[in-house]
Amino acid sequence: MGLTVPYVTSYLSEHFADDAYATLDGYRARGGYEAAQQALRTSPEDLIELVKESGLQGRGGAGFSTGLKWSFMPTDGGKPKYLVCNADESEPGSFKDRILLERAPHKVLEGILIGAWATGSEKTFIYVRGEYAFPARQLQRAVDEAYAAGILGAKVLGSDFAHDVVIMRGAGAYICGEETGLLESLEGRKGQPRKKPPFPAQYGAFGMPSTVNNVETFCHVPHIVANGSEWFRGFGTEKSPGTTIFGVSGHVVRPGLYELPLGTPLEEIVFEHAQGVPNGRTVKGVIPGGMSMPILPASQLDVPMANEHLRERKTMLGTGGVMVMDETTCMVRAGCVITYFFRDESCGQCTQCREGTGWLHKIMERIERGAGTPDDLDILLDVAGKMEGQTICAFADAAAWPVQGLMRHFREDFEEHVRQRKCPFPESFEL
Ligand SMILES: Cc1cc2nc3c(=O)[nH]c(=O)nc-3n(C[C@H](O)[C@H](O)[C@H](O)COP(=O)(O)O)c2cc1C
Ligand code: SF4
Repeated sequence: MGLTVPYVTSYLSEHFADDAYATLDGYRARGGYEAAQQALRTSPEDLIELVKESGLQGRGGAGFSTGLKWSFMPTDGGKPKYLVCNADESEPGSFKDRILLERAPHKVLEGILIGAWATGSEKTFIYVRGEYAFPARQLQRAVDEAYAAGILGAKVLGSDFAHDVVIMRGAGAYICGEETGLLESLEGRKGQPRKKPPFPAQYGAFGMPSTVNNVETFCHVPHIVANGSEWFRGFGTEKSPGTTIFGVSGHVVRPGLYELPLGTPLEEIVFEHAQGVPNGRTVKGVIPGGMSMPILPASQLDVPMANEHLRERKTMLGTGGVMVMDETTCMVRAGCVITYFFRDESCGQCTQCREGTGWLHKIMERIERGAGTPDDLDILLDVAGKMEGQTICAFADAAAWPVQGLMRHFREDFEEHVRQRKCPFPESFEL
């Protein structure tokens, strides 16, 4: 079964169209697990240094330095240490991890093995989004193959290093992608994020020191080990090296997955790779990194897709899920969809988040149906402002930012609803 979504590739996804790449034989025939062999001959300290030098930033949303995160793991040998691979991928607009799990599961495992050796971890838990039935099957098959071939287990690739991998399936909650919500769920409890500190490197899965990394983050690692940090820095920007897989959806001719260097201008992604907006329409706004990230208006598509540039425009790269909205789109309806999602997915522990997400949706919905008042616009911003930075996890920020982005760039849409006492965008998508 070949890949059916449009894509462009670089090192990370070079064999996506090649069905055999998902199998152990196919992967090994293309040089698979050679980087892990090389890593096992390198000291953990040198490996962590290499990943730090490469500048690899986590691809799960926050963009934290992977090498630095690995260095936080204790080295005193006191307790068992664990890795956790975050394959929950529930951010609306994000679908890049899915394709890595389906088409390159051994690459995920190879990255995990290198991370495990570098951090001295004896076990990895891979937490897979509940709805990802086929990706989970592909991954399980790869894990079984790796055990049978001695790549996992008591003697990894013939060395004295032992490593086990356990796959755990989620049950459909967005909050289980937040790393400590994930850990709670992994341990069999409700997926409610933990207060930090302590951070997972001190108190992680089952109370043991743990490191959580995203699927794509792990996939970059074998390439860095095989080719070096300078090679990796040859892609992307100085502050954001490497490529990433942008998942483009919405009003574009060619939605799909495009692996491109970080720093690629957003307009190149939208107009060249995804071939622009269909039906001769124009772009109204683009969410650059999954639904939690603030939207940008059409006038700002020149932005290079790297955090240092996106932050200047008050948004972030997030998961690289690019969602394009054309000129017919009602931004209040978009706000209704977004706030509905966050209202539903809040775990409810923090008042600001539990109540705030409900209020944001209630006010959005009121404005959309033509019952909003001029005060509602200020209340929206007031509620969003009070949710930011106040809660146990970043979910509340993720719920507030898109509302602030919509109000920043499309306040006129909101004002027009209040003035006309109805939605002035009859051609927009239906709620
Ligand atoms: C509400 C919320 C949802 C998240 N969902 C995911 C997710 O589905 N996948 C993911 O890798 N990271 C997700 N994250 C980020 C994780 O908490 C964590 O930072 C990440 O897995 C670390 O991996 P990285 O350093 O390799 O990016 C989420 C964070 C928040 C606040
Ligand atoms: S911010 Fe929201 S999702 Fe995160 S812990 Fe608090 S209530 Fe739960």
